[in-house]
Amino acid sequence: MTANILDGKAIAAELRQHIRQQVQARLAAGQRAPGLAVVLVGDDPASHIYVSNKRKACEEVGFVSSAHHLAADTPEAALLALLDELNENPEIHGILVQLPLPAHIDSDKVIERIVPHKDVDGFHPYNVGRLAQRRPLLRSCTPKGIMTLLARTGIELTGLDAVIIGQSNIVGRPMALELLAERCTITVCHSRTRNLAEKVGQAQIVVAAVGVPELIQGAWIQPDAIVVDVGMNRLADGRLCGDVQFNTAAQRASWITPVPGGVGPMTIASLLENTLQAAQLAQ
Ligand code: GUN
Repeated sequence: MTANILDGKAIAAELRQHIRQQVQARLAAGQRAPGLAVVLVGDDPASHIYVSNKRKACEEVGFVSSAHHLAADTPEAALLALLDELNENPEIHGILVQLPLPAHIDSDKVIERIVPHKDVDGFHPYNVGRLAQRRPLLRSCTPKGIMTLLARTGIELTGLDAVIIGQSNIVGRPMALELLAERCTITVCHSRTRNLAEKVGQAQIVVAAVGVPELIQGAWIQPDAIVVDVGMNRLADGRLCGDVQFNTAAQRASWITPVPGGVGPMTIASLLENTLQAAQLAQ
């Protein structure tokens, strides 16, 4: 058996097309284009690539995007002052501060400075709390994008056993809340988890988000499970790979995301959806 591919690249392109139409409808009705401010502090090469992809996606759908590139030694107070300005700016509906931030800046303080209705990353404790209470407002982009992918399988999620590998604030934790809201039974695994192979083998949904190349072996996957790979790891030979051994897992899974072209484009599409939603909230 070979798994069906969850083609995030194609699904994200469809979502962008749909968002572009909604932006055109807003403009035709005399409303502003959604505006996204992207803030990048320092010179992390991966962050520069992510931010530039986000900007390109904004332009494609007709959003206004403003980029704020700050030096690595920017004082925390200066970043907070910029966020205060963006919070007040009526042309900006969404604010994204690319993580990780330099060590001298307190990320929690920065995230909490963004007003919750402009927090298009869905990282503010208010938005995480809303999701925890099953009343989501702005939802974290990667888990939201994964829920969109899971919906495309047409498989009923209620009652399924889901295993998430990774407990980060950005992916693992909000992912658990998303799947719980769909009434899956959730196990969250991390570096201290015992018998990882056994836990993965019990799942009908596996979401891998640990950043360890090919940690999850194909042989562990339950036949017909859905496998979602958030990992994006660069090997010594330059090759990109996920957190799952793709070839062997695809022999057992019913659906699987490729790396690249699976979850990554869906994260950006969800960011655009959130920015449009934030623009609608502003009205
Ligand atoms: N760094 C890694 N992933 C993300 C993300 O989704 N949003 C932001 N702001 N930073 C990140």
